[in-house]
Amino acid sequence: MVEQPVQVISNERDTDAYFRLVLRAPEIARATQPGQFLHLRIPPLRDALLRRPFSIFQANGETVSILYKTIGKGTDMLARMGAGEELSAIGPLGHGFTVPARGGETPLLVAGGYGMAAMYLLAERSPQKGIVFVGGRRRVDILCEAEFRKLGWDVRVATEDGSYGEKGLVTQPLLAEIQNPKSKAESARPAKQIQNPKLFACGPTPMLKAVAKIAEEHKLAAEISMDEHMCCGVGVCLTCVIPVKTASGWEYQRTCTEGPVFDSREVVWEVAK
Ligand SMILES: Cc1cc2nc3c(=O)[nH]c(=O)nc-3n(C[C@H](O)[C@H](O)[C@H](O)COP(=O)(O)OP(=O)(O)OC[C@H]3O[C@@H](n4cnc5c(N)ncnc54)[C@H](O)[C@@H]3O)c2cc1C
Ligand code: FES
Repeated sequence: MVEQPVQVISNERDTDAYFRLVLRAPEIARATQPGQFLHLRIPPLRDALLRRPFSIFQANGETVSILYKTIGKGTDMLARMGAGEELSAIGPLGHGFTVPARGGETPLLVAGGYGMAAMYLLAERSPQKGIVFVGGRRRVDILCEAEFRKLGWDVRVATEDGSYGEKGLVTQPLLAEIQNPKSKAESARPAKQIQNPKLFACGPTPMLKAVAKIAEEHKLAAEISMDEHMCCGVGVCLTCVIPVKTASGWEYQRTCTEGPVFDSREVVWEVAK
């Protein structure tokens, strides 16, 4: 983990409120594991001391990139930055996803909105290609579908307004696949053979909770990346804690250091916010 000034190489709109930011950060790029994040200080912000966390979307040679949605003052300011400007980054941070071993589990990735950003490196580095289930409110919330297909993954889309893919929540096609793996035999692409599935998820907390429930009911392993508000990002302030089971009950653990990725069976969902 290093803190360093990083230069913006490009910062372009993807769809609607989503942007792709590419940064020159060779040390971070070399060390990044799937599911880890960057903590960015955005100098033009008045409260620039408060960093913002973003999943590392791609890491290539000298560069890392993030895929972000503008939702507030930090991300609005970030969207106005251009090539050559500098940010301060700490990263790679956090405990990421376990990359499946060759010949092991078949990964089923479940992503909501910008949750796709946390999934790309896992999809790229997994020797087994599986299925990505991606959901969002509208078509513009479905990100980088083509890039996942290019990696050899099957992509299943669901939108809540039905403007693209199946109408409804992303957990619907996931559940259909788990209950009946041949349900997509009619799809234009040949159905993948799903053996020994394992779930990986990143997105809004209600989606993660639903994925955890599906995993429990079908006795599947699941790793989920928790989206909690963060302050320090390095384990000091305790802003980001969630309840996690222990041998004697449960304890709070920090999503910035022990997470953001947890085994779904370890999270105490009844106590979690
Ligand atoms: C581990 C991790 C990885 C993340 N990865 C990405 C990513 O890849 N792409 C991306 O676009 N965003 C990601 N986020 C969320 C991102 O950090 C927030 O959207 C960002 O900090 C908002 O900053 P802001 O100043 O624009 O918004 P603010 O002005 O601080 O807040 C605006 C609104 O957004 C809400 N908000 C702030 N932080 C979060 C959060 N973590 N989750 C949900 N709502 C929030 C606030 O409550 C408020 O309602 C990630 C968060 C975490 C914890
Ligand atoms: S954000 Fe400070 S401890 Fe996690």
